[in-house]
Amino acid sequence: MNHFLELSLTPADDLRDILGRAAKMKAARNGRPKGMPDDELPLSGRIVALMFEKPSTRTRVSFDVGTRQLGGQTLLLSGPEIHMGRNESVADTARVLSRYVDLVMIRTFDSGLLAELADHSDVPVINGLTDSSHPCQIMADVMTFEERRGSIKGKKVVWSGAATNVCSSLVQAAGQFGFEFTYAGPEGMEPDPSSCEFARSKGAVTVIERDPVKAVQGADLVMTDTWLSMHENDSERAKRRNMLEPYRVDAELMSRAKPDALFMHCLPAHREEEVTSEVMDGSNSAVFDEAENRLHVQKSIMRWCLEL
Ligand code: CP
Ligand code: NVA
Repeated sequence: MNHFLELSLTPADDLRDILGRAAKMKAARNGRPKGMPDDELPLSGRIVALMFEKPSTRTRVSFDVGTRQLGGQTLLLSGPEIHMGRNESVADTARVLSRYVDLVMIRTFDSGLLAELADHSDVPVINGLTDSSHPCQIMADVMTFEERRGSIKGKKVVWSGAATNVCSSLVQAAGQFGFEFTYAGPEGMEPDPSSCEFARSKGAVTVIERDPVKAVQGADLVMTDTWLSMHENDSERAKRRNMLEPYRVDAELMSRAKPDALFMHCLPAHREEEVTSEVMDGSNSAVFDEAENRLHVQKSIMRWCLEL
């Protein structure tokens, strides 16, 4: 079963194939209206369940539009609307959904729930973000980097700020795509050790650097994310702000990276908090290309899942 759960769990060659096909499908659309289907319709006659236990703009819209462009249909299931995890076990929900739909995409809190759903599903499951990872986002980000700068292999990628779920997937990607990863942030907010261990096991260099200016020296790409993620407690906000302010990505910090260094953010962004508008709207920012590429790469991920 081709579940797409973590970047560390999908073979690196398959990740490369997914990116290659995403680029081809993007080029083939060649400016056609968004509602017009692709020439190939591999999801014709297929239904994709889109399950959300947390808010979403990009993931929700890009999976829905992408499925339609591939000729399929979607079913949107928001948290409290279904029984899962309250009135019915996750395992039984997986068994039931498998009888109705061809593919499941889920955004949930708990990576354990994602794993349980996948374990009991007879159809592929895609991780659309958990508290601990966001693999679809990082696939779009690698695609975006390579569109502008060529192969990411051997490049220096720096994450400045809170090491979120998106950061964990980035670290896994360092192992799978062979780039160097540097984390700049305060003590106690480092990326998750198992993702770092995975990256190192694949031969990737992973560095922790407390000084953000030193960290970004020689960087080809600087990335960040919100200082407080959806699953985190708002009472932490003030404390986090104090700890993370030195790691805000502003024009001064970007000027210490390579002159052509790109800036990326998964969005939604809190402007003037983790990143300034000057950087986000600057010529080296790729944030809206990343958002667009979610669409193209996820279409390719769905095809990989279903071997279509
Ligand atoms: N980047 C991302 O996943 O955005 P949404 O939360 O809007 O889906
Ligand atoms: N780290 C963020 C990512 C949102 C796409 C969150 O989990 O809220």
